[in-house]
Amino acid sequence: MIRKQKDKQDQLLTTASGIPVGDNQNSLTAGERGPVLIQDYHMMEKLAHFNRERIPERIVHAKGSGAYGHLTVKHDISKYTCAKLFDEINKKTECFVRFSTVGGEQGSADAERDPRGFAVKLYTEEGNWDLVGNNTPIFFIRDGVKFPDFIHTQKRCPMRHVKDPNMMWDFWSLSPESLHQVTILFSDRGIPATYRHMNGYGSHTFSMINDKGKRVWCKFHFKTNQGIMNLSANQAERMKGEDPDHAQRDLFDAIERGEYPSWRFCIQVMSEEQAEKVEFNPFDLTKVWSHKMWPLIDVGVLELNRNPVNYFAEVEQSAFSPSDVVPGIGFSPDKMLQARIMSYPDAQRYRLGTNYQQLDVNRPRCPYENYQRDGQMSQGFGGDQPNYDPNSIQGTPKENREYNEPALDIGHAIVDRYDHRKGNDDFTQAGDLYRLMTDDEQQRLVENIVNSLKNANKVIQERQIVHFYNADHEYGERIAKHLKLTLPKKQGVKTT
Ligand code: HEM
Repeated sequence: MIRKQKDKQDQLLTTASGIPVGDNQNSLTAGERGPVLIQDYHMMEKLAHFNRERIPERIVHAKGSGAYGHLTVKHDISKYTCAKLFDEINKKTECFVRFSTVGGEQGSADAERDPRGFAVKLYTEEGNWDLVGNNTPIFFIRDGVKFPDFIHTQKRCPMRHVKDPNMMWDFWSLSPESLHQVTILFSDRGIPATYRHMNGYGSHTFSMINDKGKRVWCKFHFKTNQGIMNLSANQAERMKGEDPDHAQRDLFDAIERGEYPSWRFCIQVMSEEQAEKVEFNPFDLTKVWSHKMWPLIDVGVLELNRNPVNYFAEVEQSAFSPSDVVPGIGFSPDKMLQARIMSYPDAQRYRLGTNYQQLDVNRPRCPYENYQRDGQMSQGFGGDQPNYDPNSIQGTPKENREYNEPALDIGHAIVDRYDHRKGNDDFTQAGDLYRLMTDDEQQRLVENIVNSLKNANKVIQERQIVHFYNADHEYGERIAKHLKLTLPKKQGVKTT
């Protein structure tokens, strides 16, 4: 949509250097039939700039939609965190949220069976807090060193340049920690109807620290107030052809109509003492925390109420990173989270340039001062102020150790490469999820899996079927029956 400029006088067309343009329709030529003169600099600039309109798309989550809004605090959680955005009931913090699919390119369809990104940037008074999660509370893998390999299997294969179910199922069958997420992916929740009709999750375990320096572990949840709605496999196939951008259109149009989507913002909290004792690893991203043991605590409401004016500037150039946490919110030992802390700013320096945090959508709304200087496209950050620290000049930015987190006791840890599979149960929670579904839901799950897995080699099918079987006997049997496979007698498989 291009908004009409009512009652506005035409403006003078200029070059990027502000020089008036006499003719934007006819190039400058020697004679009526040409050739074109190189001194038609307006045309040179116009063509050259056009050639540079594209920047690298995100290596994952390339297709996305974004909007601005607010997080409003409704409940006091100051006993868990001293984060300033939570220090008053009804306090509103501006946010920018970007939703996305994961595997497809920027022009791919919104109705793919794929997790959805749910990235929230909160412009707090103590810096930007980015909660960069998905619409699922868990993930396919639990060690970041596996991420590039996993993503390769979700993208096009190197030779035929098409998506390849063989690659996906080969990887998943050799990585049974993926089973829980695979079960969600092929369930009814595998294709959200729109971005408004799905939940969001911080997914990782994070920490919160209160004003007494006490740390708790926590999970973040956004529960949709629009209700959960999904597309069936058939509806999605049709939607991909009819309107590949349906989720972008839906979000933008709903906000334009004044139907502002909102989500309940909740947390789960686990004490450090509980984390020591629980029988599973609370920092394992393939696991959920039982809501019975760690009930949802309501915090507030996230509402989206303003569309971006320019998609490229605001949505494409937005940069979210799990490394951006504010005082009162902290990381956890989760191996995936740790990998992400490095990866995102690195990707953004490549994708947007060194000074990407100075772009308007990424800029903190609070004062920010440091000694980082110059670099490509600098707008002169720092001005005439000193560019080194420590310095003896009054009024310059100084560190404040009060902002340091309390020490984290990790015992006498021994540095090694620990097998992330050892002692970890990859199957129970996936089986629990299957058992939680109604018969119809199980039936659709099985059909969706069969329709994809049937395109993989038999040896891969046989390897994967063991995982379904290990999660739930019936789950495995139903899929095996459709694929005409006989279950191996011994339920074990060599994995990487
Ligand atoms: C985007 C890396 C796991 C959610 C990205 C980007 C990278 C990346 C490089 C592109 C960033 C950019 O160019 O702006 C990784 C690595 C992971 C990982 C190395 C594991 C070690 C996850 C997980 C989640 C997630 C577990 C969700 C729980 C997202 C989202 C985006 C994204 C939502 C898009 C953010 C936006 O809208 O701009 N990831 N990722 N990623 N990732 Fe991950």
